[in-house]
Amino acid sequence: MIKKITIVLLILITGFSCSNKNKNIVNAEEDYQIIPKPTSLEFTNGRFLVDSNTKIVGNSSLENEGNYLADMLNAATGENISFNPADANQGNIHLKIDDSIENEEGYTLDVSFDKIVITGKTPQGVFYGIQSLRQLIPVPTEGSTGAINLLIPAVSIKDSPRYVYRGMHLDVGRHFFPVEVIKEYIDLIAMHKMNTFHWHLTEDQGWRIEIKKYPKLTEIGAYRKETLVGHGATAKLDREYDGKPYGGFYTQDEVKEIVAYAAQRHVTVIPEIELPGHSLAAIAAYPELGNTGEQYEVGTRWGVFPEIYAPTDKTFEFLEDVLTEVMELFPSKYIHIGGDEAPKKQWEESKFAQQLIKREGLKDEHELQSYFIRRIEKFLNSKGRDIIGWDEILEGGLAPNATVMSWRGIEGGIEAAKQHHKVIMTPGTHCYFDHYQVPEEDRANEILAIGGYLSVEKVYSYEPTPEELTEEEQKYILGAQGNVWTEYIKTSDHLEYMVLPRLTALSEVVWSSKNNRNWEDFNGRLKHLVKRYDALGLNYAKHIFQEENAIEE
Ligand code: ACM
Repeated sequence: MIKKITIVLLILITGFSCSNKNKNIVNAEEDYQIIPKPTSLEFTNGRFLVDSNTKIVGNSSLENEGNYLADMLNAATGENISFNPADANQGNIHLKIDDSIENEEGYTLDVSFDKIVITGKTPQGVFYGIQSLRQLIPVPTEGSTGAINLLIPAVSIKDSPRYVYRGMHLDVGRHFFPVEVIKEYIDLIAMHKMNTFHWHLTEDQGWRIEIKKYPKLTEIGAYRKETLVGHGATAKLDREYDGKPYGGFYTQDEVKEIVAYAAQRHVTVIPEIELPGHSLAAIAAYPELGNTGEQYEVGTRWGVFPEIYAPTDKTFEFLEDVLTEVMELFPSKYIHIGGDEAPKKQWEESKFAQQLIKREGLKDEHELQSYFIRRIEKFLNSKGRDIIGWDEILEGGLAPNATVMSWRGIEGGIEAAKQHHKVIMTPGTHCYFDHYQVPEEDRANEILAIGGYLSVEKVYSYEPTPEELTEEEQKYILGAQGNVWTEYIKTSDHLEYMVLPRLTALSEVVWSSKNNRNWEDFNGRLKHLVKRYDALGLNYAKHIFQEENAIEE
């Protein structure tokens, strides 16, 4: 009996002194290095200890977020912490929904020595609170196998994003990335509180999504016989090819798996099915979709090809069938239909296209492209979806409900906003992460890239809302996106190198308010975040730290 009492007393005393010890730990600004920078952050002394007594509780609508947090803490500590929706008042980590928070994605995070409370207007907000919490957790825990004494510094954060659209794009047409790499990419997007993955699924050099009604799209269209080496010579005969067949595609089951994985992380996947240009792989699979009847091969070099879809009923039937299967796989409100870089020469030379121009009273081939896009838009609108197109869809007249992705600079975005169309900013000057990260004179040891020069600092300097717009027009700017074209990017290691830390910089551009952004301050926080990248085994570019880069090919 005496022994029992002693043990109970001992437990009480050690428990008390331990929490008391944690209560008095002195914190410093150093301990709060969050990217993107939160709207407001106040810290005090004390630390919350995650251990076997930790219990996560909350409303059952937060089960996904509760399990995500439990997995994160268990991976770090080796404990067996779980989320328990039934015990709303019993735990010491509370996840809550609060309708009074204004922003749909906003959250508050309060950490004290004995309690953590994460509150969101929506589960998405709670998820972002968890991402901030993650960046307060000591770095070695990322990617660790547990058994770490995990102390989280006390803080009170109120936070919400500036833009509703915070995206990253990936071209899987030029090079194919396996499901696991796509999931890692989605993890990166989510970690930085971005919310959209624009998945560029069809290209001249490869059709990457299984379409049941048209099996040749992947049997033929997903494979090319070889690939151009390097940038390739201008003269056709001087170009060198590697002689190696290349290809791959995602089955519909894999697509579903990826869309579900993204949804758990509050990332919307927007598929892009390119039309009317960048369609050589589809025309190679089904030559009747082309203008010439010729049998083509899937593209083996880069650049813009003359082949575009013929504007026939057969093509529209094909595209509607394809989009019907695509809509079954992707619940996103938006479907991206491409629209960029569609040379009109084949339409100029096509008897059918010229007759159609006459019959429809169109002025020229640009208006024919507009007719093409409007017809597809009408179909998608009838199914409750909206289209996004690259800024060329302005030429010949915008489809009535289209959202414009401004990539050839910001002018297309400005024009669309003035016409009261929604806009996503992705100008090549600030958002093309396939460009070099150093100026030309410093590229001796740099891996081959498409061209251009886009530093992390320049990404960070980007202001997505153009001054030229009135306050009313500015509301049409939904946000911005980083684009990753993969002509020269073949491995996940190289992909990480191209996006990190430019994605990191963009995440703050689209999340944090303009007056809360400061390059020096960001740079300081980035030095902390890259330690987390190191722990996760991510291959970020190190130019701004004056350190050596390495890429596994
Ligand atoms: C693009 O970069 N062709 C949209």
